[in-house]
Amino acid sequence: MRGRGHAEPGPLLSVPAQSEQKGPFMPEQNAETLIEGLLLEQRTFEPPEKFRRQALISDDSVYREAAADFEGFWARLATEFLTWSREPTKRLEWTPPHCTWFEDGVLNASVNCLDRHVDAGRGDRVAYHWEGEAPGEARTVTYADLLREVCKLANGLKSIGIEKGDRVGIYMGMLCELPVAMLACARIGAAHIVVFGGFSAESLAERLRDSGAKALITQDEGWRKGAKVPLKANADRACAQAPGVERVVVLRRTGDPVPWEEHDIWWHDLTEGAEETCEPEPMGAEDALFLLHTSGSTAKPKGALHTTGGYLLHAAVTHKWIFDIHEDSVWWCAADIGWVTGHTYIVYGPLTNGTTSVLFEGDPAYPDWDRHWQIVERYRVSSYYTAPTLIRSFVKMGEEYPKRHDLSSLRLLGTVGEPINPEAWVWYWQVIGGGRCPIVDTWWQTETGGILITPLPGVVTTKPGSATIPFPGIEPEIVDEHGNPVDRGAGGFLVVKRPWPGMFRTLFGDDERYVSTYFTQFGPEVYVTGDGAKQDEDGYFWLMGRIDDVINVAGHRLSTTEIESTLVEHPAVAEAAATGAYDPQRGQRIVCFVLLKSGFGASDELSQELREFVADKIGKIARPAAVLFGEDLPKTRSGKIMRRLLKNIAEGDDLGDTTTLRDPVIVDDLKRKADAALGRSA
Ligand code: WTA
Repeated sequence: MRGRGHAEPGPLLSVPAQSEQKGPFMPEQNAETLIEGLLLEQRTFEPPEKFRRQALISDDSVYREAAADFEGFWARLATEFLTWSREPTKRLEWTPPHCTWFEDGVLNASVNCLDRHVDAGRGDRVAYHWEGEAPGEARTVTYADLLREVCKLANGLKSIGIEKGDRVGIYMGMLCELPVAMLACARIGAAHIVVFGGFSAESLAERLRDSGAKALITQDEGWRKGAKVPLKANADRACAQAPGVERVVVLRRTGDPVPWEEHDIWWHDLTEGAEETCEPEPMGAEDALFLLHTSGSTAKPKGALHTTGGYLLHAAVTHKWIFDIHEDSVWWCAADIGWVTGHTYIVYGPLTNGTTSVLFEGDPAYPDWDRHWQIVERYRVSSYYTAPTLIRSFVKMGEEYPKRHDLSSLRLLGTVGEPINPEAWVWYWQVIGGGRCPIVDTWWQTETGGILITPLPGVVTTKPGSATIPFPGIEPEIVDEHGNPVDRGAGGFLVVKRPWPGMFRTLFGDDERYVSTYFTQFGPEVYVTGDGAKQDEDGYFWLMGRIDDVINVAGHRLSTTEIESTLVEHPAVAEAAATGAYDPQRGQRIVCFVLLKSGFGASDELSQELREFVADKIGKIARPAAVLFGEDLPKTRSGKIMRRLLKNIAEGDDLGDTTTLRDPVIVDDLKRKADAALGRSA
């Protein structure tokens, strides 16, 4: 699509011949050269002919329709994709920066995900092929099974006093009971707050407090790489700091004895003998479906609030069209349900579409690096969706792992969470996709609810490293610091200029922060994503990473401020600064600079202790790659930490001008330490 992106529908892309293969991805590249490399990337990949012939969307008519009337476009889909107990007459109502979609419509998310499939005679269809972490442990759950379990738990939750409008925390591993818990909340009108099972007790407590959760659903223990994760024990510590939680429902998974509190109740006791039907709560389209916390520029995570009608629609439409989901498709989104990717593309999108999915409890490297390919082969997976960081690990481990398995069932591959380097993209295309599967690089965020920038695989020619063009009806733009659109090829802030159905409606309990973080920089009509991007001459979007204080480690968002305020909680730490440095495997890694209190001496042991301290307080994903001690932190004469410099030090870059520093000697010392700690020769 040439010219003004989606605004001018036209023939979709002329396709230049494939250029020569480039050399291998160089791990020593830093972020800057990576981005330059991305923009130099010239190869293009047309939708394979066989795929195009079978694709659900095989021409540009949906782009045209949405460009002509985006509200009408979504309204048409709202009746096609969803079952309403009262059809909406309203579409978008926009009082910037707030919006509603389909406000007078009434529906229930669990009915859309379950009842209507069962009612249509498709109760026997498999909802989840569940694969446990231990090889051989598997379970098949049909739509009818899921509906029954959801109703039983919904009745159980009601019996312990959970009502419409309440909030319920969920802290579990990747079991079928996790979607059951989410949908049971949805059925009775309680908003769920899923907290990733890898988060610490402190992180869980903070999210429970922030959301005012009245109950928590957890499990005795989880499995991770053959070891047990003490979810219930963490939950106990969290609940001690979250007094609003009145009841804790505990699912038995490993069966080991766990500590027991008076407010605890076993899942099996709560649901035993419970009615197998449960009248769904009629929900307004704008009633809350869930909150999901994400990291921002301050230490406090933000609870993005998603509502029922618009979110569900966005989830269903994007899932079906982008991943080209047919009646007989077997879908696997290999994310964790604790992140938004799992919410939208393991639970709400696929279930609304009545799709058969794989749900995997374990780790891609357990017991060996071919686990994913074994699962693809076993269930004949047709579309597979994962993060670039994992693809890079697969590349590193080598082709012999995928080669052990028959991957011929795959028709489509997807990526999400961070930019993918072209070499990993091409490897994915050749080695996993066998050169026949289109790759959809999908850009979106917790706040956006669903995918916003992506190819439609039967229509859009892809370029490795680019998320390509906006989904129909979405209007992103790249602007300079004054909010003016930049020229093609120039970098700037990625913004979105009008609402879409799946967008978050506010930050729970903090609308002021919603407005100031996302809708102030360029006025109330312009959503600021926090990402930098460029558009090439074809209008293709190339994402360049966060431009705020957020670090993206292996596709997971972490706040520098949150890490810093955690470090200063340690008795030895006077001051701390965290920065994200380029990492060839995980996108970015966390490097921390610490000034110790007097009486504490720098040592490798203390550095190690602080790394563990952060991992313990926030979660393992936040464990810094290095904690470095300095005599001071690099500050300007007015005492402001120079973050640019910290990043340069962490990335081993030239330091540039340091004359404005209070004490320029400090940075040389830090740079030496960083180079030594991160294995760089000076
Ligand atoms: C990044 C995950 C490049 C981006 C769904 C965004 C991406 C943040 C892509 C959101 C992509 C996500 N290409 N960058 N395809 N997808 N990102 O909230 O920086 O966990 O702002 O949502 O991930 O992360 P979140």
